[in-house]
Amino acid sequence: MPTAFEELAARYDAWYDSAHGRLLFALELACLRPLVPPGPGLRLEVGVGSGRFSAALGLEVGLDPARAPLRLAARRAVGAVQGAGEQLPFRDGTFAGVLFVVTLCFADDSAALLGEARRVLAPSGRLVAGVVPFDSAWGRRYETQGRAGHPFYQGARFLTLAEHRRLLTDAGFTIAGACSTLTQAPSDDPVEEGAQAGVVPGAGFVALQARVWPQV
Ligand SMILES: C[S@@+](CC[C@H](N)C(=O)[O-])C[C@H]1O[C@@H](n2cnc3c(N)ncnc32)[C@H](O)[C@@H]1O
Repeated sequence: MPTAFEELAARYDAWYDSAHGRLLFALELACLRPLVPPGPGLRLEVGVGSGRFSAALGLEVGLDPARAPLRLAARRAVGAVQGAGEQLPFRDGTFAGVLFVVTLCFADDSAALLGEARRVLAPSGRLVAGVVPFDSAWGRRYETQGRAGHPFYQGARFLTLAEHRRLLTDAGFTIAGACSTLTQAPSDDPVEEGAQAGVVPGAGFVALQARVWPQV
């Protein structure tokens, strides 16, 4: 069955050009940027959507189950691949970096996505997950909007930071760094704020960087 991301791709993408979307995108990008490996080596975003983050960060490959946003990602020069994060169509150890931006909460089996990310990462690779924790006022706001029928958020199950940490550890990762933003209360008129290194409790957007446990 087509998802909202398939059917409403243009609407999803247009949000980034609104005043609200432009500011949140800039704050989240500033939070992700210090943690995303710069290369050399191929980098993949799983759940790339219309490719806004991958294009800005210079990622080479983006995968998504939905074809309509992928077409927009391809126009932004991201190498677009249709597929599911649970079964990545790539060989073991292909990527120097794997990125998720607000995608784990939309997957039926987020543990499977992380397992596959681990498989396709090179041993020295880095995973970066940008997440909206449920234990933040932003996460709870989106969850409430989803329950009220918001076309995108109704498909999400927001996870707490502790749940994200556990999922990463269970998939064989160790957390190597973090950055936080959106420490302000959620509103329709967000204001500029800087990204802060580390996990700030209650922050509405947290980027976690993880590396594969050393093989013994
Ligand atoms: C909130 S959007 C985020 C898109 C993009 N990362 C961004 O921040 O603009 C979530 C994306 O995850 C994708 N998605 C949902 N389930 C997925 C899965 N099992 N594997 C990979 N991507 C998935 C959706 O199609 C959607 O494009």
